[in-house]
Amino acid sequence: MYSEKVMDHFSNPRNVGEIENASGVGTVGNAKCGDIMRMYLDIDENQVIRDCKFKTFGCGAAVATSSMATEMVIGKTIQEALEVTNVAVMEALDGLPPVKVHCSLLAEEAIHAALWDYAEKNGIKIEGLKKPKADIHDEDPVED
Ligand code: FES
Repeated sequence: MYSEKVMDHFSNPRNVGEIENASGVGTVGNAKCGDIMRMYLDIDENQVIRDCKFKTFGCGAAVATSSMATEMVIGKTIQEALEVTNVAVMEALDGLPPVKVHCSLLAEEAIHAALWDYAEKNGIKIEGLKKPKADIHDEDPVED
């Protein structure tokens, strides 16, 4: 049912954790299942993503897609990171079962929410970035 890459990223997820004093933090909930994802971004002065970490209260597919998504955005500029869509992440993982496609949205939306947070903190506008719909950052739902 799951590709080897999905199983690998699920069993051995990359970049789990948090970033202290992150440039941007985004938390989103998946309305379909109630799962939650938080992404932390460390962005340098040239708008390059130096580091990205995630924490989740979510299913295996959400863990695998987030793990892959963090690897894909590290080293990219903000604009390049916007091209790391859930479809791109799923392709990099050799696909997900159709019922799990919504899980991959959690990673994409959390990265967008973190970028939005970064833009707000810095008073800038990121071309092509829409205000996240499901940012539940204030409720602080992901705990250790
Ligand atoms: Fe909730 Fe996968 S079932 S994110």
